[in-house]
Amino acid sequence: MGNRSDRKRPPMLKQPARPEDSRSLVARAGVAGALGDGEAGEDAWIEVIQKMDAVYAELVENQVELEAKNAALEEAQALMASVFASMADVLAVCDRGNRIARVNRALEAVTGRHEASLSGEPFASLFATENAAAVDDMLARAREDGAVTDCELSLRDTAGAPSPFVMNCSARFDHKGRFAGVVVVGRPLGELRRAYKSLNAAHRELQEAQQHLIFSEKMAALGRLVAGVAHELNNPISFVFANMHALKKYGLRIRTYLEAMNDGVSGDALAALRKELKIDRILADIEPLLDGTLEGATRASEIVQDLRRFSANQTETPEDFELLRVVQTAANWVVKIARSRQDVAIHVPEGLSVHAPRGAIHQILVNLIQNALDAMDGDPHPLIEIDATEDGGFVALRVRDHGPGIAPDGMQKLFEPFFTTKPVGKGLGLGLYLSFGLAQDFGGRLAAANHESGGAVFTLSLPKGAWHGA
Ligand SMILES: Nc1ncnc2c1ncn2[C@@H]1O[C@H](COP(=O)(O)OP(=O)(O)O)[C@@H](O)[C@H]1O
Ligand SMILES: [Mg+2]
Repeated sequence: MGNRSDRKRPPMLKQPARPEDSRSLVARAGVAGALGDGEAGEDAWIEVIQKMDAVYAELVENQVELEAKNAALEEAQALMASVFASMADVLAVCDRGNRIARVNRALEAVTGRHEASLSGEPFASLFATENAAAVDDMLARAREDGAVTDCELSLRDTAGAPSPFVMNCSARFDHKGRFAGVVVVGRPLGELRRAYKSLNAAHRELQEAQQHLIFSEKMAALGRLVAGVAHELNNPISFVFANMHALKKYGLRIRTYLEAMNDGVSGDALAALRKELKIDRILADIEPLLDGTLEGATRASEIVQDLRRFSANQTETPEDFELLRVVQTAANWVVKIARSRQDVAIHVPEGLSVHAPRGAIHQILVNLIQNALDAMDGDPHPLIEIDATEDGGFVALRVRDHGPGIAPDGMQKLFEPFFTTKPVGKGLGLGLYLSFGLAQDFGGRLAAANHESGGAVFTLSLPKGAWHGA
């Protein structure tokens, strides 16, 4: 036997006699003679007492171990009970027949039933009837796969109404590793879902508002476009109208003249009529009139073609085109609607071509030129300079104004949606944001800077086009 003096002993057991005291113990008890005389008898006693002592000691040891195990078990049970009780999530333990073995206080509170009344009931009875199949499925899958997570199921609440929960279900095993049932933990979905739903709704509203604003900006751009087109179309159309009126009048006169010839009028009378009707002037006038009309019609048709391109359908594909013409058209349109007396100096080499969607470039340029004009609001002679240079495989197109330039804190936010320093109704702060996106879409880049001698410079880098002839 080892030395057990340092062991904590349970209170009800006394320290047994030490083996080395056995001989004196026997002598004091005066029992030696009872087992026979002399040394042999005494030895037999000692042996018996030693055996007893050993057995007793073993007993004590077992008892100590048992007590320790008991204490640990009690502790574990108390811990389990406190965890069970204080868990906010609902918890149920089922046996291998899917019958309820234990539930925690949270589940009692939700269902309004005590553990005692639930114990032994089928687990599925906790749930709304329409969930029966889903519950069975969860239990079966947990048994098969070990665990199932995130099952949305509705517990029957105190009033019998369904109360949605998110459940996790895990298989549990006995000490021999055999399936012993499942443990199910669930969290109410109501709060979570309500919060999520309202967040979702707020997000949707925000998106809608944003879409609406982008739409407004696009409508404003379209408005500018239409105003530009109307202005452009007005010229050739009034030209065509005036010419057609003249031609109609001429037609009537020629007809009168031909009818007179047909009626046999001749000689001086016919000559006088010819003079009166100004037939010779008419004949000389017809060709230029027709040419002018044709030109006007051609111009109108070109404008319509431009409009088709510039109405910028989203699927517009990049093409090689001459930059100068698009710059001119964009500048014309902005400047004509503005009706102010600004100068736009364009230094774009003829024949310089880029590879990009034409409508997008037009749209970006209109935005930049409009911003440049806005920046110089109040300037009696605003000047906008547009130039382009080749740089490797790219063409850098710059739009420079002579306004106050971009404020230092504005530089960071320039391309953010809804950043504007303009009064309500004048700017939505989407022009540069949309332009930046458009440039990126076709592999271009839009950057802003302040010119060293004043004003802002916006640089649009575009992939160079292959075609290079005017
Ligand atoms: N040429 C410029 N000079 C100075 N500031 C500019 C210039 N262009 C743009 N900005 C600044 O960037 C802001 C955003 O421009 P933009 O996105 O086109 O929206 P908006 O023109 O509707 O304000 C403008 O409000 C202005 O403060
Ligand atoms: Mg703008």
